[in-house]
Amino acid sequence: MTSSRGLQIRAARRGDVSACARLVAQEPLWHRYGLSARRASALIRWALRRREPILVAVRGGEVLGFVWFQHRGTFVHSGYVRWIVTAAGARGQGIGSALLRAAEERILRHGPNVFLLVSHFNRRAQRFYRKMGYQRVGVLRHYVHRGIHEWIFRKTRGPLAQFEHRRQRRTRREVRP
Ligand SMILES: CC(C)(COP(=O)(O)OP(=O)(O)OC[C@H]1O[C@@H](n2cnc3c(N)ncnc32)[C@H](O)[C@@H]1OP(=O)(O)O)[C@@H](O)C(=O)NCCC(=O)NCCS
Repeated sequence: MTSSRGLQIRAARRGDVSACARLVAQEPLWHRYGLSARRASALIRWALRRREPILVAVRGGEVLGFVWFQHRGTFVHSGYVRWIVTAAGARGQGIGSALLRAAEERILRHGPNVFLLVSHFNRRAQRFYRKMGYQRVGVLRHYVHRGIHEWIFRKTRGPLAQFEHRRQRRTRREVRP
């Protein structure tokens, strides 16, 4: 998909790994988690090998951001956005929103919920998620590191049972001769 401003959102390829890992490694947020470019690169490669979805935002051949997510990464039934990041010099231009919308669109085909974790101190990301329709639904205290709490954010289209019921009705209609 390419927008009018020349931003393309596409599936990540092996050749994107080092650009994505650099974005993570340059981000002060992840310094607090001790995440190096080498480790980020190993994790992204591992995700690609497992065919986990990663979308990159590209403009003029340059990777300006990416999102890594799982269709059923939360509580078996629900989507999980694991990492999202945009280049520091390209923030506030709608790239993060475009990436998150593209991930949500794919997750919401499988179920009505998207979950993610955000550090308690990461106010900018919290504002971003609220603007994108997420609500804080809980907290995991000292989850990854002592002294850092993870806020649980959720965006929902409704209860699981309702989604399943609609899906079954759709399937019945499709198989009807
Ligand atoms: C969170 C993040 C992905 C948003 O990406 P982005 O490309 O800036 O997103 P958008 O341009 O779509 O911005 C949407 C909103 O984010 C917020 N925002 C983005 N850049 C900002 C900045 N430099 N200062 C303050 N707020 C900012 C604003 O609320 C903005 O809303 P606006 O359009 O009304 O101004 C990006 O800030 C980022 O990579 N942060 C570091 C990594 C991170 O925290 N990831 C999330 C981990 S849970």
